[in-house]
Amino acid sequence: MSEITITIDGRACKSPAGRTIFEVARTNGVYIPTLCNYKDLRPVGSCRVCTVRVAGRYMAACTQVAIDGMAVENTAPDLEDMRRSILEMLFVEGNHLCPSCEKSGNCELQALAYRYQIMVPRFPFQFPVRRVEAVAPKLLLEHNRCIQCLRCVRSIQTEDGRRIFVPQNRSRWRKIGVDPRLAAELTDEMALKAMEVCPVGSILRKGVGFAVPIGRRKFDKTPIGTDVAEGLPR
Ligand code: FES
Repeated sequence: MSEITITIDGRACKSPAGRTIFEVARTNGVYIPTLCNYKDLRPVGSCRVCTVRVAGRYMAACTQVAIDGMAVENTAPDLEDMRRSILEMLFVEGNHLCPSCEKSGNCELQALAYRYQIMVPRFPFQFPVRRVEAVAPKLLLEHNRCIQCLRCVRSIQTEDGRRIFVPQNRSRWRKIGVDPRLAAELTDEMALKAMEVCPVGSILRKGVGFAVPIGRRKFDKTPIGTDVAEGLPR
């Protein structure tokens, strides 16, 4: 397989051809923030938190394949501010009450907010009225926290490939629901995986709340973006 070289903020990064900008960055120890992207899932480029700039054009690093000689801008102040504004929009669009959330300390949105030092969003809070759903025997769906990354839709399927999580409705009423009949077939392992794959606290496993105390969770120990040198997926 041929090898390519790109630069990210002036730093030369080598990689086999055919990898995305995000993958090249990750294997070279360069951090690009992501939310909808997840290891082993086909990227869909929906959140745009990974936006980088190449020759003046903005593109999603998780979907754009790197081409030999590309000069990628990743940490320009305006790019970082664009990412910050996306995160702020996600916060005001839902109801993210971190202190009472089971995922606090394991939440990628919260961890990115810390990384980007978000104190007060520049946009007005929407305070949408959304219900919590307990229709699945093993799961709670907390729609107030959902950022519609579709990671659950893409990753949780039955053995014969049917999707358990499905987008429902349109526009601002869109939500990620479950097929109640298929949700009844969820195994304990699938329910746990659904909770893990969710970057926020929108999918919660019933009966195991706060199993790991706040303060001892993933991002309590290692802030997001500081693990890239180890080649970890996220
Ligand atoms: Fe690339 Fe969401 S991580 S668009």
